[in-house]
Amino acid sequence: MTNDALKERPLCLSGKGVTKVFGSGDKATVAVDHVDFEFREGELISIVGESGSGKTTLSKMLLGLISVTEGEVFFQGKPRDISNRKKRLEYWKGIQAIFQDPFSSFNVFSKIDAVLLDCIRMRGGGHLSKEKKIEMMTEACGFVNLKYEELTNKYPFELSGGQMQRLMIARIFLLKPKILLADEPTSMIDACSRATILDMLMNLRDEIGMTIIFITHDIGLAYYISDSVYIMEHGKFVEKGTPDEVILTPQAEYTKRLISDVPKIHEPWDLSTV
Ligand SMILES: Nc1ncnc2c1ncn2[C@@H]1O[C@H](COP(=O)(O)OP(=O)(O)OP(=O)(O)O)[C@@H](O)[C@H]1O
Ligand SMILES: [Mg+2]
Repeated sequence: MTNDALKERPLCLSGKGVTKVFGSGDKATVAVDHVDFEFREGELISIVGESGSGKTTLSKMLLGLISVTEGEVFFQGKPRDISNRKKRLEYWKGIQAIFQDPFSSFNVFSKIDAVLLDCIRMRGGGHLSKEKKIEMMTEACGFVNLKYEELTNKYPFELSGGQMQRLMIARIFLLKPKILLADEPTSMIDACSRATILDMLMNLRDEIGMTIIFITHDIGLAYYISDSVYIMEHGKFVEKGTPDEVILTPQAEYTKRLISDVPKIHEPWDLSTV
């Protein structure tokens, strides 16, 4: 997407002065420090920073899993209201996450078809016929190259790591959230599955126009996949812009250092070798 085309898209998720302080007094840790951001519909945003820079803390605030100490988050341009359980459940229809560890995404005591049926119900499809539900689950599994018939009676722990990652994406296919937050979903798997999963996420974005917020240490990867890159250091965004702006003409010392750690960033990226 070009930068101008992107700016005309409606705002999906934005924030002003968003801050998280853990603890108080001498023991206070400012994990996220007055960050501003504007994420638009269908945009792929990467948030890049080293360990401890505040990425996961910011993700948790965006998801509404922890409170915001100061500042405000806006959903579709309006102040986000998640003040009670009903409003939180409604918000979570719009924003979903996939995590580093796919095990944590599933209830281990639910069979896989129960996991997928739950997604259909969350989207308001509880009343559909059994045939229609099976058709939807089959389609979702097909999208990630899983065979529904082979999974239907299994538990998540009976799948391989790669199958589990795919199931996670099949859930997103059914849930069709406006926003998907991916906190390094690929860091624990081999490079080949990593490329496949990224590819599936991009297809899904094109299919349902989802906004993807991708959290990573890997500035090289961020360069190739993103519409916008935000660089995070000690809880602050020290730089933001298009991948070309941020990575080809970095302003912050921190960004320059992150880039110098990646030797081949200016060379074309050949998917066939990963
Ligand atoms: N619940 C908590 N209580 C106190 N401090 C916390 C808590 N969670 C995170 N922190 C602190 O906030 C800072 C940011 O942590 P965070 O997990 O957001 O970093 P990160 O960028 O996700 O790192 P990584 O790349 O290693 O996942 C760290 O200094 C961390 O110790
Ligand atoms: Mg983290």
